[in-house]
Amino acid sequence: MTESWVNSAERIGVDLHLELSGPGGRRAALTRALREAVRGGRLAPGTRLPPYRSLAADLGVARNTVADAYAELVAEGWLTARQGSGTRVAERARPSRQAAGAGARAQAPARARGPRHDLRQGRPDASAFPRTAWAASYRRALQAAPSEAFGPGDPAGRRELREALAEYLARARGVRTAPDRIVICSGFAHALRLLFGRDAPGGPAGGGVLRGPLGVEAYGLGFHRDLLAAAGVRTVPLPLDEHGARVAALGRERAVLLTPAHQFPTGGPLRAERRAAVIDWARARGAVVLEDDYDGEFRYDRRPVGALQGLDPERVIHIGSVSKSLSPALRLGWMVLPERYVEPVLAVKGEREGWASVPDQLALADFVACGSYDRHVRRMRQRYRSRRDRLVAALAERAPHIGVTGIAAGLHAVLRLPSGTEQTVVEAAARRGIALDGLAAFRHPDSPASAGDGLVVGYAAPADHPYGAALEALCEVLSTA
Ligand SMILES: Cc1ncc(COP(=O)(O)O)c(C=O)c1O
Repeated sequence: MTESWVNSAERIGVDLHLELSGPGGRRAALTRALREAVRGGRLAPGTRLPPYRSLAADLGVARNTVADAYAELVAEGWLTARQGSGTRVAERARPSRQAAGAGARAQAPARARGPRHDLRQGRPDASAFPRTAWAASYRRALQAAPSEAFGPGDPAGRRELREALAEYLARARGVRTAPDRIVICSGFAHALRLLFGRDAPGGPAGGGVLRGPLGVEAYGLGFHRDLLAAAGVRTVPLPLDEHGARVAALGRERAVLLTPAHQFPTGGPLRAERRAAVIDWARARGAVVLEDDYDGEFRYDRRPVGALQGLDPERVIHIGSVSKSLSPALRLGWMVLPERYVEPVLAVKGEREGWASVPDQLALADFVACGSYDRHVRRMRQRYRSRRDRLVAALAERAPHIGVTGIAAGLHAVLRLPSGTEQTVVEAAARRGIALDGLAAFRHPDSPASAGDGLVVGYAAPADHPYGAALEALCEVLSTA
């Protein structure tokens, strides 16, 4: 049996693995191998095959052997040969269902199709990703980068990005920091893993950099609670009201995780007295506050709520990411750390940057430094504000009995439902093809108090055009709630 990787094919864009085996000599073996490659879908319709001479040289066969094999497959309809464009796989040479794994493919489109109306929280408008500005930043960053940037990455992250973020976070979010206090990561979830991961080499014995019990808001992302539970961290729910988490309930916890700018998902900012109180608690107990600043840039009606970290940079770990402001696909975030945690966090990261792509970091540094980030955020703030206004107006007209809260900021609103109706409404929405969550999906399992019945409606994800249809469908469901 002869096996060959046909490297000459690289020149025309395909890398072809052929097995020449079986009865009937080289020509028959090559014809069979090519036919199987086309029939099985390994060679897609339209693919240009290597010229006779290069394929013959790679396989160690005569040029005529290749020419004859191609001619036979052209005659059978698997290939086409046209003067000037060489020999190609015929457009109608589709793989057989069986060969292409029909079962697996038949299911794929259904998974990819998704809901008809996507009103899930947590998603920015993916169609608004600033492709041109990002590509310009990427190009500039790659051209300007020193060669060492393409070696193993520094676990703290690129200095260019940390400098740009220190300036931006101070200016836009009131964070008090310096580049050496910033550690780049791949987003908020990664930050939690780094801080609480088991067996962290730089942290306390038997745990991560930080240890539980960890106070958390009674409503939050289950995904984050699960991640903490998997790291062996016990979470203690703090009751919520319209002023945010009731931090007076904090006791012996070693740390607390809050969303002070915009409680997730119920929507209000943490009241000023509580901001001061949680810092006092952390100072008194030697504890630390984790600030999840997931959508701090998107505030519409009132003055921006500055970062809690500004009150005491030695007691607060400020965590942010581009997941809401740019795209969750980039996987880029940052931790602004009190000095004592910088080395332990870097020790957990190890010798090299293992998560956040250095070219992406350089591109983000340029994107922030040249003002594109500010421009994008401002543009998106306007767009999301008008989305929110359309939601509020549609509800006022079509479902006036439904209250709306948590709308001063962020990319989602909470629609208040009559008691006992949440599950029915979520199910009715699903039947209409609307994807959204009820408030209950965010409740900590140990939380004694309920925030009532409601829907968490993300208004950012649908592109402008389908948004109207999504609102229409939602109002239809709510008009009978
Ligand atoms: C409450 C909350 N925190 C943080 C994040 C950001 O997560 P990540 O940076 O891991 O994408 C999100 C989602 O965007 C969120 O909803």
